[in-house]
Amino acid sequence: MSAGDLGFAHRFFPGESGATLLVLHGTGGSEDDLVPLGRELAPGAAILSPRGKVSEYGAARFFRRLAEGVFDHEDLVFRTHELAEFLEAASREYGFDPSNLVAVGYSNGANIAASLMLLPPRLLRAAVLFRAMVPFEPEEPVDLTGMPVFLAAGQMDRMIPPQNTQRLAEILTEAGADLDVRWRDTGHALTYEEVAEAKEWFSGVLPRLL
Ligand code: MLT
Repeated sequence: MSAGDLGFAHRFFPGESGATLLVLHGTGGSEDDLVPLGRELAPGAAILSPRGKVSEYGAARFFRRLAEGVFDHEDLVFRTHELAEFLEAASREYGFDPSNLVAVGYSNGANIAASLMLLPPRLLRAAVLFRAMVPFEPEEPVDLTGMPVFLAAGQMDRMIPPQNTQRLAEILTEAGADLDVRWRDTGHALTYEEVAEAKEWFSGVLPRLL
């Protein structure tokens, strides 16, 4: 299914498991990119895949940045709320349960997923973050008690400094998330091995959530 309304160009594919994966592409991606990944990770889950609304010289993103790794905080907060509103509108339109939303984000998509976790209304139930960094330092304590989060990072990633991912892991742990961090001796690109690991993680987590 394809639709340009509800505020975001997006794709939605119904599922039968009760979970809905919110798949969020990286810089320069589109709403089509991570649909196969979502299907691989959680067969039977519905998939909602929006396209980021910010254009960086034609490359779609979920929020503006001032330089590589330097985020426009005001825009990030605005775009996070805008995406949350879209999720609520999409749940009404397609009839999925907004309390069973699980994010799967890569790079810029993982960063807006992390922002969705740190800012109200905190719609996500669980998250898989591939190549994520700190979207912003939370000013107030965040409560993510028991939220399952899979964080996969590359030690040789030139876009995402490992210490930045490490800081995100600390923030999520302090917030009480049930964090599973996987480091690999790899760069920014996703590997088959970590997709397989995330799939295994999903098969343990989804039955507990639903
Ligand atoms: C970001 O801007 O979100 C990160 O630098 C990663 C990316 O470029 O997608």
